[in-house]
Amino acid sequence: VPVDPFDLVVFGATGDLARRKLIPALYHRLHDGQMPDEARIVGAARGELDRDGFRRMADAALEEFVGAGELDPDARRRFLSTIDYVRLDALSSDGWGQLSAALPDADERPRAFYLSVAPRFFGQVAERVHGAGLARPDSRIVIEKPLGHDLASARALNACFAGHFGEHQIYRIDHYLGKETVQNLMALRFANALFEPLWNARHIDHVQITVAESVGVEKRGPYYDGIGAMRDMVQNHLLQLLCLIAMEPPARFEPDAVRDEKLKVLRALAPVTDLEAVVRGQYAAANGTPAYAADAESAESRTETFVALKTEVANWRWSGVPFYLRTGKRLRARVSEIAIAFKPAPHSIFPGSAGRTGQNVLAIRLQPDEGITLGMTIKDPGPGGLRLAPAELDMTFADRLAQAHLRMPDAYERLVMDVIRGDQTLFMRGDEVEAAWAWVDPIIAAWDERGDRPAPYDPGSSGPEDALMLMHRDGRRWREIA
Ligand code: BG6
Repeated sequence: VPVDPFDLVVFGATGDLARRKLIPALYHRLHDGQMPDEARIVGAARGELDRDGFRRMADAALEEFVGAGELDPDARRRFLSTIDYVRLDALSSDGWGQLSAALPDADERPRAFYLSVAPRFFGQVAERVHGAGLARPDSRIVIEKPLGHDLASARALNACFAGHFGEHQIYRIDHYLGKETVQNLMALRFANALFEPLWNARHIDHVQITVAESVGVEKRGPYYDGIGAMRDMVQNHLLQLLCLIAMEPPARFEPDAVRDEKLKVLRALAPVTDLEAVVRGQYAAANGTPAYAADAESAESRTETFVALKTEVANWRWSGVPFYLRTGKRLRARVSEIAIAFKPAPHSIFPGSAGRTGQNVLAIRLQPDEGITLGMTIKDPGPGGLRLAPAELDMTFADRLAQAHLRMPDAYERLVMDVIRGDQTLFMRGDEVEAAWAWVDPIIAAWDERGDRPAPYDPGSSGPEDALMLMHRDGRRWREIA
């Protein structure tokens, strides 16, 4: 469905996020007929560029991140002609008059400001957007993590934005919520009658959430150091996934209905009091790849590149069901997956070893090879006796998309169009961000107090030994990272 012609100002338009994600996402939306030719994208940055220079930069970004062979010449030309550029400094009043002049006066056009700048500039840019009279009552402002580094700083950031914008204008991106398969999680749970009766402590043994990456921190080392996996991944992406699994059905698929339910989950998370239930790791050197300490240029670094933890959603539905979360860099493979492990059948009617039933596991694979599998136990085929064997019901989305000649859209395509449409359902509300920090902060404080170093782990492994033990102790196992 096409959106109305809009004006989108991208602050920090020459940066990595804009080139890698936003420009390609907007191109695809125009190519697919959703972004109208009358839309205007105004890049705003400090770089000494003019409109043509910025169009050339955007064009190069399309070649690199969409792929030269994939570009449709007509869409490419039409897309580039929506682009304008204003040279501007967030820290001074330079350029703000030109920005105002570059935006059409028409009141009815949706207007959005995307702050693709370092978080330390969020406050100043918001203030100047407001001060220069650019924001209308329904203009949107878009920000992305890090949204603070602890509860106090997240509160300060929320308060700063609240000084200039209403909550209904603030779009806080967690790009995981824009992923096609993450949205599918909600469809799976709330558009099917099949799962809901089983979706509770009576039938579910445990939940595992894994977001594994095979890459290290690479060039981001010095930025990442002092942040670590807990702040970079768990506080946002993993807790958001946990919310979507654990939340009560909202009455409607509407922003506050969904976000109210997620907030309740975050507030119901049991505090982690036992540090044995949280494992931190840091990748070591191997096979020519440098250790984290070298990537971070900090030999004594205590920053974790891996976290595994066990928590519980302490409410009526989930009481007693462990949620195991893990994420890390330089692991065996790039896999994001949620696995719901059901309790075993209460009684076996099959004799001896033939009666060993497997566990029913619903695995939702977020990336790559997006899809859903359901582990079942079936009769081992053949004329021998009745023996049981594991089998999987397998629905790989990639196959279905390929059959329909569709492309898996990037998270930013959906999220940027939702900003224009004014739909906040897939964006985090300020109180959610604060609740997530409130849960994470004491864990980080306890680590700081203990002052030890994260356990080293081999690149290409599934993390430190202690992470395996975390589940072994409970008589359970992580799924393979493969
Ligand atoms: C980002 C983190 O939010 O998510 C990165 O800052 C991480 O460290 C990235 O690599 C992973 O995102 P994706 O979409 O590649 O799974």
